Amino acid sequence: MPTLKDIFVLLLVFYIYPGKCDVLYLQAGQDVSLKCPELPSGQDMVWKLNKNSLVTIDGKKGTSRKGPLFKQNKHYTSGDNLKITRLEARDAGDYSCPKKEFRVHVVSVFADPGTVLLQSSYVKLRCDGVNTNPVQWLRPPNGERYHETKPEITLTSVTSKDEGQWTCLVQGLKINITLTVVGLQTQENIEVPEGGDVVLPCSLPKNTPHRAVSGKWTAKHLDVSFGTTDDKHNLRWKGQNTSKVLFTSGQLSTNYDIKLIRVQSTDAGEFVCTVKFEGGTELTASTMIKVLPGTSVSGGKVVNNVKGQTPSEGPWTKDVYGVQLWVWIAVGASSVVLIGLIISTVLVQQRNKRMKKRVRKLRSMRQPLTAKDYCQCNRSHGEVELAKQVRPVPIPRQQRNAHNKPNSYN
Ligand SMILES: *[C@@H]1O[C@H](CO)[C@@H](O)[C@H](O)[C@H]1NC(C)=O
Ligand SMILES: *[C@@H]1O[C@H](CO)[C@@H](O)[C@H](O)[C@H]1NC(C)=O
Repeated sequence: MPTLKDIFVLLLVFYIYPGKCDVLYLQAGQDVSLKCPELPSGQDMVWKLNKNSLVTIDGKKGTSRKGPLFKQNKHYTSGDNLKITRLEARDAGDYSCPKKEFRVHVVSVFADPGTVLLQSSYVKLRCDGVNTNPVQWLRPPNGERYHETKPEITLTSVTSKDEGQWTCLVQGLKINITLTVVGLQTQENIEVPEGGDVVLPCSLPKNTPHRAVSGKWTAKHLDVSFGTTDDKHNLRWKGQNTSKVLFTSGQLSTNYDIKLIRVQSTDAGEFVCTVKFEGGTELTASTMIKVLPGTSVSGGKVVNNVKGQTPSEGPWTKDVYGVQLWVWIAVGASSVVLIGLIISTVLVQQRNKRMKKRVRKLRSMRQPLTAKDYCQCNRSHGEVELAKQVRPVPIPRQQRNAHNKPNSYN
């Protein structure tokens, strides 16, 4: 669409002889200034549009009288010029001043039904405001000449090759329009562990002028569809959630994802998303599901995290700084156990030391007695008992370790 609103196109129109008609092709949205050859002083300047008076400027008094076609903020005069701002289709026509005529064409390019198109749908490109044949069209990607030269051309089944700038070239004026071609997007291959859940992606990247009217997901063991079910012609899934498939509950516009839950090896294979649009265009997208065997059935973890959609997950599989929560918990628990072990080792060693000291003390006290008459001495009994208390100490340490470990790791 032309948008050069603020640029004045100054047309240098030279006076050749009265009655000469200039034919002008101008882009919609532009401003234009029509210049009338100078009049003899005292002559009224009369601007007409299609033979109806637009404005008359009194040659003697300089006052102006505006006709019904004159629109403030659209037309204004300055000297011998008539200026028109923001040209629209209805500004086209035959303008005249006493010594000159101008035929003004206001040209613009339209795409019907729009510039965002579904793959394989049709589009009409119209170079409006041109009532002459031929028109040269330049097509994407690099402005090659298009074989048809009518002001209106129809592309019956657009593909990505038709995406880009289409230019209407008329009388040196180039006006372009940009087409975008969209299709259903999915992911070609998806892997999911057996027992896991997976989102089957199917969506349009943009809204298009074509409304989706029905559609479905199919696979060898699955056939679910949607249709216009509510009174506002809003599209929704027809089915209810089952033990196999979850549907979104809102209105469907560009996203037709579904979610398979507790995927089994028998679910592997091709899944096809089909959407029908107003006007009969039908698009499909297919994805291959591969089920990875041997993984735990209880797990609900999805291998492919499609387009940022978070799969269902328990609190234990939540990511914390890029690592799953259960890993953090396991690391924390083992650290606690380790610290416990260190503390108990230190305590036991200290106790051993204390005990040894005490034994040494006892021995040194006993020394004089043992020299000759220890056989007779009753204290030997007490010594044996003490030794019994001292020596087994290293044993409880091992027992304690062996006792702590399994409890804490589980
Ligand atoms: C296409 O049209 C736009 C808006 O009128 C203009 O700015 C742009 O320069 C044009 N591109 C070409 C290649 O002519
Ligand atoms: C299906 O289940 C999902 C997730 O539990 C929920 O968001 C959705 O609203 C349900 N859809 C329908 C149609 O009940």
